[in-house]
Amino acid sequence: MPIDQRLIDEARKARENAVAPFSKFKVGAALRTTTGKIFHGCNVENCTYGLTVCAERVALLSALAAGERSFDSIVVITQSEEPSTPCGPCRQLMWEFCGDIDIALTNLEGKRVDYKLSTLFPNPFYFSLE
Ligand code: THU
Repeated sequence: MPIDQRLIDEARKARENAVAPFSKFKVGAALRTTTGKIFHGCNVENCTYGLTVCAERVALLSALAAGERSFDSIVVITQSEEPSTPCGPCRQLMWEFCGDIDIALTNLEGKRVDYKLSTLFPNPFYFSLE
């Protein structure tokens, strides 16, 4: 399914719930399953700083906790001038649980860049117990 305006709007809404008193950098994410369900994420910071969780991971963990295992795309929205790319740990987790999904990175003005995860995360670490 192509990434449409609805998924972008859902990420924008999710961003409004960001807890970012330290960085003031609010991030929203909307992760879509292959059956079309949407899971939301926002970044959550706390006073230890180090326990901060990114918007992408919140969306992914929420979807996994709901039993979802198959994903096709994610939108990440930030306030930056250029759309901001996901951090390394989020790329690793998305690769493991979502495979080579479509990613749209946008800013609040609607500037958008699209990637496949494999472009942002080449030569990943992965092993399977099977
Ligand atoms: N952040 C995300 O939520 N996603 C990213 O891809 C990169 C960074 C958050 C973490 C922190 O709360 C804030 O943005 C500044 O780094």
